Amino acid sequence: MGDSVLPPPRHIAIIMDGNGRWAKSRGLPRTAGHAAGAEAFRRIANYCRSLGVEYLTVYAFSTENWRRSGEEITGIMGLLEKYLREALADMDKNRVRFRFFGDLSRLSEKLRALCRDAENRSGSYDVQVNFCLNYGGRDEIVRAARAFAQAAARGAADPEALTEETFSGYLYSAGVPDPELIIRPSGEKRISNFLLWQAAYAEFVFQDILWPDYQPEDLDAAIAEYHRRSRRFGGA
Ligand code: IPE
Ligand code: IPE
Ligand code: MG
Repeated sequence: MGDSVLPPPRHIAIIMDGNGRWAKSRGLPRTAGHAAGAEAFRRIANYCRSLGVEYLTVYAFSTENWRRSGEEITGIMGLLEKYLREALADMDKNRVRFRFFGDLSRLSEKLRALCRDAENRSGSYDVQVNFCLNYGGRDEIVRAARAFAQAAARGAADPEALTEETFSGYLYSAGVPDPELIIRPSGEKRISNFLLWQAAYAEFVFQDILWPDYQPEDLDAAIAEYHRRSRRFGGA
């Protein structure tokens, strides 16, 4: 591990998928899969930091995931709280900064307070983790459009002057460069409403590994695959 000679992308995004199947294959409840998924996240976030990745964006809960059973949702929210509480205690040691992408208003007050505390901590850090919670790419774009329209209506923004760059400033990801690499483990080959705007020129790597099993070597493999791609951005 760590033997890839080429530098990693600045920004890696991951759809952390396959927790349910991992649990099912072991005869465990789905929540046990999410707990193992949280461990995989810790492992991979630490590894990203050691590689010098600047931004790691992870899909933890989508706007569509509310369709799951109350039991599973409560389990996931409980694990998120536990994770954030521990992350807050270790933030300086882990040299990580957090941002949250998504509509947090639907989360419990306790969870929102933890998100706020994590976001407001301003120590020095090596890696920024963007945690996508109640996140949907379409929802993000609609909110940005609404915010821009409201600014225009009160005379604070000029529709004629709107550019891709200024529009990006209304997204949850304002100020964060687009991910060069988007990874989806679990064997599914779809985007599931993740980073629709930001993914415009990302390289996609799909891996047949369930997220709780994901290891630093698997990230090395994804980065190596990324380096084999020829990124043309529409040029010849
Ligand atoms: C991803 O794993 C975690 C969340 C969506 C919260 P899944 O729970 O979707 O796992 P599978 O896809 O059912 O295996
Ligand atoms: C995407 O995975 C969302 C997260 C990983 C948080 P899903 O498991 O919800 O996506 P689908 O349902 O397979 O498209
Ligand atoms: Mg899934």
